[in-house]
Amino acid sequence: MNGSKDAVVLITGGGSGLGRALVERFLREGASVAVLESSESRAEALRADFSQAVEVIVGDVSVYADNARAVERTVARFGRLDTFIANAGIFDFFQPLAQYEGERLDEAFDELFAVNVKGGVLGARAALPELVKSRGSIIFTLSNAAFYPGGGGPIYTASKHALVGVVKQLAHELAPKVRVNGVAPGGMKTNLSGLQSTGTAAQSLAGIEGLDQMLRDITPLQIAPVPADYCGPYVLLASAADAGPITGAIIHTDGGLGVRGIVNIRGGEGL
Ligand SMILES: NC(=O)c1ccc[n+]([C@@H]2O[C@H](COP(=O)([O-])OP(=O)(O)OC[C@H]3O[C@@H](n4cnc5c(N)ncnc54)[C@H](O)[C@@H]3O)[C@@H](O)[C@H]2O)c1
Repeated sequence: MNGSKDAVVLITGGGSGLGRALVERFLREGASVAVLESSESRAEALRADFSQAVEVIVGDVSVYADNARAVERTVARFGRLDTFIANAGIFDFFQPLAQYEGERLDEAFDELFAVNVKGGVLGARAALPELVKSRGSIIFTLSNAAFYPGGGGPIYTASKHALVGVVKQLAHELAPKVRVNGVAPGGMKTNLSGLQSTGTAAQSLAGIEGLDQMLRDITPLQIAPVPADYCGPYVLLASAADAGPITGAIIHTDGGLGVRGIVNIRGGEGL
């Protein structure tokens, strides 16, 4: 794939939030887009909103057969696969370790890792033969929680840190044929939801009061981005023309959390 025009992209969790913004962005770039999404109603909305232009597969990223079916359907419809975006995720709603009952912790860990970590690895495996053929690439959605504490509880933070290892290991293993990179967004108001095992499956991040103000307060750039604001780096990484030498990279799109520092006595004054 050179630019995004005429490229074929498969996005997991494309029915909402960042995934849905990626669907819209890659369509605008001229790509053909397929989505693997677990929610029937979001899948239906994608089909309706894009007049069937998007190939929508209903399934669960934590099940290998669903990933394989998504790749198969993508290739049957569009003839190839250039970029696989492992984006679907769930959240622990910042639940601290001390607030888990032992059994609940056991279940919550398995439930969250099955989607956030295993889902991406299974999807990468299912997409691999097609990506080798197309000399394509994989992009993982990470998070500020892949680098810093406090962007989730221990389970979410561990899952996103784990993906850093997945990006590096796969970039190492799959070179020279397939590039593997990540994007690590900061916060955004989405439907990011919780876990069956902790009774938070129906909660969503968008329900957190004052989230946008909190984001503006903690980011050096003082921003509260919307999902569309995070899409540019995915388009860049998907493009062999623009990102040909890039593999094993993770682009931090978190408003500067890594340079927040301890005390900022200058605070941008005089700029
Ligand atoms: N919202 C944030 O603040 C934020 C910040 C950093 C990173 N992220 C990451 O962005 C990614 C997208 O999350 P979002 O915020 O857009 O949330 P979202 O809930 O709006 O979108 C996620 C989509 O994934 C789908 N999904 C969930 N589990 C699935 C499964 N097992 N199989 C298939 N589809 C499944 C959901 O139905 C939903 O449509 C996640 O990896 C998340 O960790 C989000």
